[in-house]
Amino acid sequence: MSNLSDAGTKSVTNSSVATIASLAIHEGERVTLRGWLYNIRSSGKLLFPSFRDGTGTIQGIVPKAAVSEDVFERVKSLTQESSVVVTGKVRADSRAPSGFELDVEDVEIIHLVPTDAPYPITPKEHGTDFLMEHRHLWVRTPRQSSILRIRATIMRAAQEYFDTNGFIRTDPPILTPAACEGTSTLFELDYFGDPAFLTQSGQLYMEATALALGKVYSFGPTFRAEKSKTRRHLTEFWMIEPEVAFMDLEGDMQLAEAFLTHIVTRVLELHRADLKVIGRDIAKLEAVIAPAPATEPGAPSFASSAKGGLFPRLSYDEAHDLLEAAFAAGKLEAPHIYGDDLGSPDETYLSSQFDRPVMIHRYPAASKAFYMQPDPADPTKALCVDVLAPEGYGEIIGGSERVNSYELLKSRILEHGLPLSAFEWYLDLRRYGSVPHSGFGMGIERAVAWICGLDHVRETIPFARTLNRIYP
Ligand code: 4AD
Ligand code: MG
Repeated sequence: MSNLSDAGTKSVTNSSVATIASLAIHEGERVTLRGWLYNIRSSGKLLFPSFRDGTGTIQGIVPKAAVSEDVFERVKSLTQESSVVVTGKVRADSRAPSGFELDVEDVEIIHLVPTDAPYPITPKEHGTDFLMEHRHLWVRTPRQSSILRIRATIMRAAQEYFDTNGFIRTDPPILTPAACEGTSTLFELDYFGDPAFLTQSGQLYMEATALALGKVYSFGPTFRAEKSKTRRHLTEFWMIEPEVAFMDLEGDMQLAEAFLTHIVTRVLELHRADLKVIGRDIAKLEAVIAPAPATEPGAPSFASSAKGGLFPRLSYDEAHDLLEAAFAAGKLEAPHIYGDDLGSPDETYLSSQFDRPVMIHRYPAASKAFYMQPDPADPTKALCVDVLAPEGYGEIIGGSERVNSYELLKSRILEHGLPLSAFEWYLDLRRYGSVPHSGFGMGIERAVAWICGLDHVRETIPFARTLNRIYP
């Protein structure tokens, strides 16, 4: 018995072992599947066991008259999540979610879950706390498996976009001597007697490699000691961050748009069945990548900032005006204070006004990070962009043009109370051949939550780390 894939493993596995995802090529044939009992129903002389194998779920049928007494009793004895090897014939059935059913002929039990210590997650409803406490088992349910498959594709498509567009992957360190995104959310640790921190973002290091290689990206885990218990915050999350020399904010926005379009296209190409399992409204995703109409019917006017791309663009000032009008109309509980960053309810409101991601650019510099280049047209504004996912999902991408003047960057570091010594190397990038450059970061979990239509980021990562949870 081996868990290796079918390909190239004939010497160690039974070559006729099929996967549920590939049953279409076996219609009418006898196949062997390896997996687990997901659920079983019976109506007297008929058993309906459903099996899962990691690639999907299929319902089996066992009429008492069609199999030996022995096989019938063995199937009947199966408990939830017992592991099995099943042999049967594949029959097309348009009513079945997978399109197929299995006429079971034989079942070999690998491990029977005892009836006196049953699998804890039953098909009935469980509370989220219980499920998170059993996350190591919860990942087996079809819905969770579908989400994780889509997550894998989102990560692959994200890398693929950069890999096929001339970007070089240069991963930054995870152990760092200084903050990137503000000092309040750092995880500190003891580095042989000196303080060090888990990285919040690879950006500063990507700026260094961008000036070496032109177009680069990083992809890895990032950490923030966020004391917020929102549906959007994890303390450990995965971020993919491109950085490009000689690219301005306009280029950064175009890059973000093309990048997101590629990811959504791939998910739609590969995961219609998974999206169906999790109940995602696929039309909403199709709308994201559909050619843009000249003006979107019913959408607020943002012509002044739109440059003909796929995604609507709003300046911070335009966004503020929309929020003010929404508050006046009773659609927001609290007014947005001009000058403040956008709060979660503000983002939720703005992103629910559009059927595509909306790009909000040029926030007040004071509300944003120290490294952002001021807008020459209005130096109180930063040349930055946040991309808000539609349907109220809010920020999934944050990016900007970076300060390229040595003097300005140095004064920003000091103003923010950051230790100059830890940033000397970063200042070197402005001492030696400084150029305008830009980049952004996308949190994978936020993207998965949006694309899968999930309420909370805790389901978007195999084992979520949040304010209250570090188990299992
Ligand atoms: O907007 P942020 O803080 O930007 C940066 O870190 C920049 N240095 C990126 C860059 O320009 N290279 O974070 C970027 C993205 C957010 O838009 C969000 O998707 C995600 O990272 N993110 C989180 N995701 C989950 N939990 C959290 N606590 C997150 N904080 C940020
Ligand atoms: Mg941000």
